[in-house]
Amino acid sequence: MAEPARPKPARKVAIVTGGARGIGRGCALALADKGFDVALVDLLAPEMERTAGELRAKGRQALIFEADVAGHLRAREIVTAVKAEWGRIDFLLNNAGKSMPKGILECSEEEFDRTIDINLKSCFNYIQAVAPIMLAQGSEPGTGGRIASMSSLNAFTGGVTSAVSKFAYAAAKAGILGLTRALAKELGPSIAINAICPGVIKTELGNALTRAREPELIKGIALGRLGSPADVGQLVAFLATVEPNFITGQAFQIDGFQWVI
Ligand SMILES: NC(=O)c1ccc[n+]([C@@H]2O[C@H](COP(=O)([O-])OP(=O)(O)OC[C@H]3O[C@@H](n4cnc5c(N)ncnc54)[C@H](O)[C@@H]3O)[C@@H](O)[C@H]2O)c1
Repeated sequence: MAEPARPKPARKVAIVTGGARGIGRGCALALADKGFDVALVDLLAPEMERTAGELRAKGRQALIFEADVAGHLRAREIVTAVKAEWGRIDFLLNNAGKSMPKGILECSEEEFDRTIDINLKSCFNYIQAVAPIMLAQGSEPGTGGRIASMSSLNAFTGGVTSAVSKFAYAAAKAGILGLTRALAKELGPSIAINAICPGVIKTELGNALTRAREPELIKGIALGRLGSPADVGQLVAFLATVEPNFITGQAFQIDGFQWVI
C-alpha cells in the first residue's frame, strides 16, 4: 500500500559545518539544488562568503557563521540563531574536519585532543544542539530531521600508510561510526542519522596526498578516478531527501571502490 503523503514543510533548512570549501562546499551546493536554504559554519570567512554567494545565485538563502566547530556553547548559539531566522532545521551535515599527519611517537597530547575535538567532538556539539529541535518537529518515522557526519575510509583502514592522516584521525573518524550507530537508535524513529566514508576526494585537504600519488592511487580504484566534492554532494543530497526513508545508522563508503590507501 502506498505511504500516506506527508504535508511538506514551507522551507527546507540545512546546516553544513566546514562548508566554506572542499567537500562541504560541494555538499552545500548539492543541497541548494534540492531546495535547501543553507547555514554555513567554518573558520574561513572569505571562502564562506564566496560559497554563500554561489548558494544565493541558485536562488536559495544562505547564512554564514565564523566559528570553530570544537566549541560546544558556540554550536548551541549557532543552531539557536538558525532556528530563530528560518524556523526549523531539517538537515545537519557534520563535515568540518582536519587531518593529523603525526604518528603515535610524535603526536602530543594537545594535538591528539585537538584532532578528536575537530573531527569527533564537533559532531557531538552540533547533534546535541539540533536534536531537541528535530525531535520537536515530528515523532513519526523520518519526520523530525536527518543528520549525516563525514567519517572516512580511514575509519576502516587505519590510514597508516597515508601521507596526511594517521592514528588520531583514524580514531576520530572511526568514533563517528559508533556515534552514528548509537544515535540512530537513541534518536529514531524521528531522526535518521548516517555516516559518510569518502575515499580520496580531490580538495584542498586531499591535494597534498593526491599530488604525489595520483597515478598510483588511480590504479587501485575500480572506477578509475579520484572522487570530487560533487560526487559526495550527490550522496549527501540523496540522504537528505530520499522519500520514503528507511536508511539510518549506516556508514556509506564513497570511494569508487578503492583498495590502495
Ligand atoms: N578530501 C578527502 O580525500 C577526504 C577523504 C575522507 C574524508 N574527508 C573528510 O571530509 C571532510 C571535508 O574535508 P575536505 O577534504 O573538504 O577538507 P578541506 O580542508 O578542503 O575543507 C575542510 C573545511 O572544514 C573547515 N574546518 C576545519 N577545521 C575547522 C574547525 N575547527 N572549525 C570550523 N571549520 C573547520 C575548513 O576551514 C574547511 O573549510 C573532513 O571531515 C575530512 O576529514 C576528506
